[in-house]
Amino acid sequence: MSNVALMVSGGIAAYKACEVLRGLQKAGHEVRVAMTADAERFVGKTTFEALTKHPVLTDLYGQTGDPIPHITLSEWADVALVCPATANVMAKMVTGIADDALSTTLLACACPVLVAPAMNVRMWLNPATQANVETLRSRGIELIMPTTGELACGDVGEGKLESVENIVAATLDALCAQTAPQDLAGKTVLINAGPTREAIDPVRFIANASTGKMGYSIAAEAVRRGATVRLVSGPVSLEPPKGADVTHVTSAAEMLEACLAAFDGADAAICTAAVADYTPKKSADHKLKKTVERVDVIELVETADILAALSAEKGERVVVGFAAETNDVIPYAQAKLARKGCDLIVANDVSRSDSTFGSDTSRIAFVSASGVEELDTLPKSQVAEKIIDRLVGLLEARA
Ligand code: CTP
Repeated sequence: MSNVALMVSGGIAAYKACEVLRGLQKAGHEVRVAMTADAERFVGKTTFEALTKHPVLTDLYGQTGDPIPHITLSEWADVALVCPATANVMAKMVTGIADDALSTTLLACACPVLVAPAMNVRMWLNPATQANVETLRSRGIELIMPTTGELACGDVGEGKLESVENIVAATLDALCAQTAPQDLAGKTVLINAGPTREAIDPVRFIANASTGKMGYSIAAEAVRRGATVRLVSGPVSLEPPKGADVTHVTSAAEMLEACLAAFDGADAAICTAAVADYTPKKSADHKLKKTVERVDVIELVETADILAALSAEKGERVVVGFAAETNDVIPYAQAKLARKGCDLIVANDVSRSDSTFGSDTSRIAFVSASGVEELDTLPKSQVAEKIIDRLVGLLEARA
């Protein structure tokens, strides 16, 4: 359980701070609130006191019996979240103005600070506000950017508070990053993910059912553990993990080239991508017309094996491969370990509904020269943790 200081400033979106607070509590964290006088015009502090079962900080003097409540709250917090953040509060943060309980507490915070702005579109787009956003960012403050939509004033545009769900998720990520062991600090890890698309013509391609979830989860975990992450991704509809350096590719040939480049200077590679094994020998430069040129047969040629190519040049570096199988999972994985020359194969039985493409869970086994370890079905985030644990072990064994 961690501690979140929720800083509520005065905008109509203040009522959404109640839902953010509940979301953080549901995730198991303790929340305490500081509010500006203007925020109290929108939501009474009684609401926050009832939700947190704790006094809300609105005044620096004599309110709680604590002579220095702003220092107490700033030291208690593992993360501070300003939600909603008005243009005024951001301007105060930039200039270091501390003229009420909220801004004084923020000035005293040494923990990570997240800011979720909400305001009228013209106030948001005003060069003064935009410059303040950039300054806050440059100081390491995380901006949870507002979205575009109908605003409380009736205007339509940018300035709407990000969804409660995403604000909670960003805060949980910040808490997570604080508590994760930094056992990959100083290491660079290449991860490839997703499917590849092999073009038949400009509008048709051969692909597969990979969604990229596993690879993206592993990339997020590697970032959380302090690694520099180079993510080479085929076409997927996932938001890349924050902090990863992403190269987007389409075909197996592009993925090979990007991976070879990214492996240069890296300490390890994890190949989760479902790379097409075959690609059309020829790809038409125009859309094929069935009335003009029948395509009854597509001649295919084998693609390069990226995992084998990285393993061939790995030297002392660690390379991990995946094996998605529907039967004889362990023997096939053992054969792949030998054939591809990598250090570890993560075998995955994709015939199971709790471990198939796109599912949120996986049932994996680690197959290496030292033997086979079968794990229970776990959420992909926990599978990612186990895989990174293994990678850390392999890297330590090399050191
Ligand atoms: N792989 C790769 N390049 C390819 C094919 C596969 O790098 N052209 C990698 C995958 O990223 C994965 C591992 O090899 O880490 C195993 O992939 P899989 O598709 O299960 O194996 P294949 O080599 O295609 O073998 P098979 O078709 O016999 O299952």
